[in-house]
Amino acid sequence: MALILVTGGAGYIGSHTVYFLRQRGHEVAVVDNLSRGRAKSVPDGLLHQLDLRDAAGLTALLQSRPFDAVIHFAAFIAVGESTKLPELYFSNNVASSISLFEAMLKAGVKRVVFSSTAAAYGIPTHVPIIETQPSQPINPYGETKVMVERILETLDLHREFRSVCLRYFNACGSEPAAGLGECHEPETHLIPLILRAVRTGQPVTLFGDDYPTPDGTCIRDYIHVSDLAEAHINSVEHLLRGGESQVFNVGTGHGHSVKEVVAAVERVTGKKVPVTLGPRRDGDPPSLVADSTKLQITLGWKPTRADLDRIVSDAWDFAQHGTCA
Ligand SMILES: NC(=O)c1ccc[n+]([C@@H]2O[C@H](COP(=O)([O-])OP(=O)(O)OC[C@H]3O[C@@H](n4cnc5c(N)ncnc54)[C@H](O)[C@@H]3O)[C@@H](O)[C@H]2O)c1
Repeated sequence: MALILVTGGAGYIGSHTVYFLRQRGHEVAVVDNLSRGRAKSVPDGLLHQLDLRDAAGLTALLQSRPFDAVIHFAAFIAVGESTKLPELYFSNNVASSISLFEAMLKAGVKRVVFSSTAAAYGIPTHVPIIETQPSQPINPYGETKVMVERILETLDLHREFRSVCLRYFNACGSEPAAGLGECHEPETHLIPLILRAVRTGQPVTLFGDDYPTPDGTCIRDYIHVSDLAEAHINSVEHLLRGGESQVFNVGTGHGHSVKEVVAAVERVTGKKVPVTLGPRRDGDPPSLVADSTKLQITLGWKPTRADLDRIVSDAWDFAQHGTCA
């Protein structure tokens, strides 16, 4: 069993991954500045409240115990915000990653799993998307992730610094057994927004119904957060076995339209979703679906919670019984 440092472990995907790492018997420490996460999502005694750009603090932490690897989630994630404040995203997502990698090198920790994104592809040339499609992000958020991927490629080449970059598609759902769920503020993700509309009666806006898709609404690949967490564990264990650097898509390989998600919410909750129709948003591709064959073949990972009603039902469980306070 290994000792793993998780950055951003107080956030949505990080906290789920901490839960599954511990289930698997790994020892975990968390670094998070709580700018967007919740201390309550981290088990007692694991949290080090620190900004990744605090190079001295981070180096001291990494040198304080024999860490085997890092899983690096900490970042800002809102595409819209990144177009208004790109400098914030370059600082928080790129500069903080460089600070982390420098501290890791000083401490002799040379394995990292990095949260990348489907936004790395921009407007894909083919769907389902395979990893060899060009990285052509169309917003600053996607740019920051591609920049970090490039830095990791270079560190692999010259510093024997091994990484797995996981390009996730739309993370969603929750792990009811862990009492964890999705708490972004402001929330920009579709399923929590639809569930909020069900709870409050305030309509959710659907952006565009004239896309070249069967029902006119955008198609996305919804990946259950617990399946995503397990992909991180497979990835870190690959690196711990001495595995080489890799880039993998993480999705189910199946797309669902916005209208299909609304219908699933109505089935699961038994309630009508109040909706209003808005215009298309700039830069929303009609369809983003992952081909995750490479991850499945290389690391034996398989999504086991891909059913849309299961995803919505777990998210609904958290919306009813969980708390983001
Ligand atoms: N949620 C998705 O659908 C999705 C999709 C693709 C990629 N990702 C990536 O996955 C990662 C996690 O996403 P999430 O949805 O869990 O986000 P989140 O906002 O819930 O969690 C991010 C955490 O990082 C912390 N953090 C941010 N900047 C920090 C810094 N400089 N120092 C220390 N801590 C810092 C925040 O406080 C927060 O707890 C991000 O890197 C994101 O880009 C997410």
